[in-house]
Amino acid sequence: MNHFDYRDGDLYAEDLPLSAIADAVGTPVYVYSRATLERHARVFRDALSILPRVHIAFAIKANPNLAVLNVMAREGLGADVVSGGELARALAAGMAAEDIVFSGVGKQHHEMIQGLEAGIGQFNLESEEEGIELAEIAAERGLVANCALRVNPDVDARTHAKISTGKAENKFGVPIDRACTIYSNLAALPGLKMRGVAVHIGSQLSELEPFEEAFAKVGALIAELRAAGQTVTHADLGGGLGVPYKAGDVFPTPEAYAQMVARATEGWDVTLMFEPGRVICGNAGVLLTRVVRVKRSSNQVPFVIVDAAMNDLARPAMYGAWHDFDAVAPTGEKMTAHIVGPICETGDTFAMDRECDALAPGDLAVFRTAGAYGATMASSYNSRGFIAEVMVDGDKWAVVADRIVPEAISAAERVPDFLKD
Ligand code: LLP
Repeated sequence: MNHFDYRDGDLYAEDLPLSAIADAVGTPVYVYSRATLERHARVFRDALSILPRVHIAFAIKANPNLAVLNVMAREGLGADVVSGGELARALAAGMAAEDIVFSGVGKQHHEMIQGLEAGIGQFNLESEEEGIELAEIAAERGLVANCALRVNPDVDARTHAKISTGKAENKFGVPIDRACTIYSNLAALPGLKMRGVAVHIGSQLSELEPFEEAFAKVGALIAELRAAGQTVTHADLGGGLGVPYKAGDVFPTPEAYAQMVARATEGWDVTLMFEPGRVICGNAGVLLTRVVRVKRSSNQVPFVIVDAAMNDLARPAMYGAWHDFDAVAPTGEKMTAHIVGPICETGDTFAMDRECDALAPGDLAVFRTAGAYGATMASSYNSRGFIAEVMVDGDKWAVVADRIVPEAISAAERVPDFLKD
C-alpha cells in the first residue's frame, strides 16, 4: 500500500499532483510520501508487537535522507549504520545513540572511535580481528563497547547474488561453526561486552523459509554459547524482507514474517533486534522523470528516452531490477517500448520491451518503488550531478535534498600547478 494514486487521471503523491512538483523543481526528482513512510514503520512495528522485547533499527543505507530519518526517529525507530557518515546522519536526525547499531564488514579505526565516543548501543562485529581492534580502542579510552557477533549461517537467501550475504562464500560474518570459540575469545577481552549474536542473510527476500533456516541455526548457537557459560541477551535478526516491485507480485507480509520469527525464536529469552530497510521505505518513493524523446527506428520497438538515468537509479543497470513505470497523466493508450536514460552506455536501460502507458516527448512518468536504494546509490556519471529529493506531507511539500549541479562537483576539483606550465 502506498500514497501514490491517480485522481481524475493524474498521479498524486498524497494530496499533491506530481506535475506540480515537476513544474516547481524540475525533473528528474525523487518524491517521498511521509504518510507512506509512517504507515510502513507502524505496520512493521505493530506486526512485531507479538514478540516480547523488540528493538527496530532502520537500515539507513536504504534511504539516508535526513528528512526520511527524521520520520523514522519520530516513529521511535533506531538506526542500523554502516559508516561514520551514516552514524552522523542518524544522530543528526535525532536518533538516540543507544538506539544505534553499527554493522559493516570493514569498520575503520576512526569509525569505531566515532561510534564509541558517541555511545552507540551496539557494534555488530564481523570478525575476530575487528573485535580485537575495537577492544583495544575501547580499553584505551576506559570505555566498554556492547557487541554482537555476526554469524554467517551458510544459508541461501534465494535472492539476487549481489545482495545475498549469508552464504559461506560471502564476506559477511564469522562461520557459524567457529562462532562459539570466537565469541568466547572476544568476551574475555577488556573493552568489549559480548551480549549477543547477529545475522543478516540478504536483501529483497521473497520467501520466509531462508530466514527461518538461518534463525534455527542462530537458536542452536545461542544454546551452545549459554552452555559454554557465555551471556546472550540480544539477537539481531537483520533486515531483508522484500517488497513487490511489479504490480501483482505477492510478498510475505510483516505479520507473516513476525509469526515466523515468533515460532523460530520461541524460548530464546533475548531482546530481538531488527534492521529493516526496503520494507519501510521502498514504495514510499518514486523517481519522477520526463520523456526527452521517443526514438523510432524502422520497425523496431521504440526507445522512450527519459531524463533520469542509471546514475540516478542504479538498480535496473546493476541488478537487472524491475521498477514499474507509469505515466503521470495516462491517456489510456498503451505502447511497448524500451525505457532508457541518456547516458552513453547500453547498460543505461530501465526496461526492455516494456508494455507501458503511451508516452510522448515532454510527458511525465514515474519509476515506482524507488524510495529504497534509489537516491542513495546515485553517482554523477556523465557529469549529470545529483538530483533533488522532495517529501510530500498531505498537500504540503518541501525539497529535502537540493539538486547538486555538475558545476558544484567540478568546483571541488583542481588542476595542479605541474599541469599549468
Ligand atoms: N542489515 C544489514 C546488515 C544489511 O546489510 C542490510 C542491507 C540491511 C540490514 C537492510 O536490508 P533490507 O531490509 O533493506 O533488505 N542495493 C541493493 C540492496 C543492498 C542491501 C544491502 N544490505 C538493492 O538495491 O537491492
